[in-house]
Amino acid sequence: IGGWKEIVPVSGWRSQEEQQGIWDKSMEENGAGFTKKYVALPGHSEHETGLAIDLGLRREKLDFIRPSFPYSGICETFRKRAARYGFIERYPAGKEDITGIAQEPWHFRYVGVEIATYIMENNLTLEEYLGAA
Ligand code: DAL
Ligand code: ZN
Repeated sequence: IGGWKEIVPVSGWRSQEEQQGIWDKSMEENGAGFTKKYVALPGHSEHETGLAIDLGLRREKLDFIRPSFPYSGICETFRKRAARYGFIERYPAGKEDITGIAQEPWHFRYVGVEIATYIMENNLTLEEYLGAA
């Protein structure tokens, strides 16, 4: 399959200070409603654990908070295979009340192959898997 080079890493590990910076800037530029939907509270982001990565389709100007990662083409191929490598799509549509975060097609979280496969096959979120929903 070609086209893998169209997928680029947008954001991986971030320190709490960096998360705070993203939060503050977004609050200023986008407001509280948007920020609470798309930015985890500083101290609570998976990015601070190093287990999460945001991916985007290569663009001249990538949106740092909401990169494009559609449910089609090479991105969807990646998504379908992610569990084989231990990753889940962490914030799916329809589960916003459970995760507390809006749909984020670009955010993947490492949980290991077994758990990722189980979560994917059963259409769960990590909260539901952990019994925390
Ligand atoms: N965008 C995700 C929720 C984060 O900030 O960790
Ligand atoms: Zn993310």
